[in-house]
Amino acid sequence: MFLIHWPTPARDNFVDTWKAFVEAQKEGLVRSIGVSNFLPEHIDRIIEATGVIPAVNQIETHPYYQQRDVREFHERLGVRIESYSPLGHGEVLEDEAIAAIAEHAGKTPAQVIIRWHLQEGLIVIPKSESPDRVQANIDLFDFELSDDDMDRIRGLDDPEGGRTGSDPATFNEQY
Ligand SMILES: NC(=O)c1ccc[n+]([C@@H]2O[C@H](COP(=O)([O-])OP(=O)(O)OC[C@H]3O[C@@H](n4cnc5c(N)ncnc54)[C@H](OP(=O)(O)O)[C@@H]3O)[C@@H](O)[C@H]2O)c1
Repeated sequence: MFLIHWPTPARDNFVDTWKAFVEAQKEGLVRSIGVSNFLPEHIDRIIEATGVIPAVNQIETHPYYQQRDVREFHERLGVRIESYSPLGHGEVLEDEAIAAIAEHAGKTPAQVIIRWHLQEGLIVIPKSESPDRVQANIDLFDFELSDDDMDRIRGLDDPEGGRTGSDPATFNEQY
């Protein structure tokens, strides 16, 4: 899968990049194509230009920044959301409500958060440099969060202040 990392709107070249991705896929050079950090207006533009819908949009998503306002847009088009910084860049691991749910479930806070992503229908890519944590972070299929747990985590959403990364509307740096 190839992703466009950022739309960098001031450069206004993501539509041309998407056209090149579409060509690469047609030629069989890449299996799937998608985007990252795209706002709905950016996704609308690439679809309008090519008719091709991205397979995924990799965007910052975690309990403190749940992206509720764009979920329906993605669902309607069939674009899967892939949660980046799914543990809030580590910050959500310290949350008291998450700790309480984890203690009750006999799991770690990281496992509770990653399980929340899965039950929300999100693709999730936690990162750890520790092999033991990587192993623990996929040990998620012997428990389920209750509706009450899910509601409690839903209540942690802070759309105004929860983001840890850059704002895709204004981020125009080049990596
Ligand atoms: N598309 C984009 O623009 C974009 C932007 C940012 C990030 N990402 C991607 O998102 C992925 C993850 O993002 P992220 O690294 O920002 O944040 P994250 O996965 O939310 O959090 C990573 C932090 O959590 C810690 N951690 C992981 N598992 C743990 C566990 N079981 N117990 C305790 N601590 C744990 C890690 O420490 P240790 O390593 O010490 O375990 C690290 O400090 C990466 O693949 C990254 O490339 C994409």
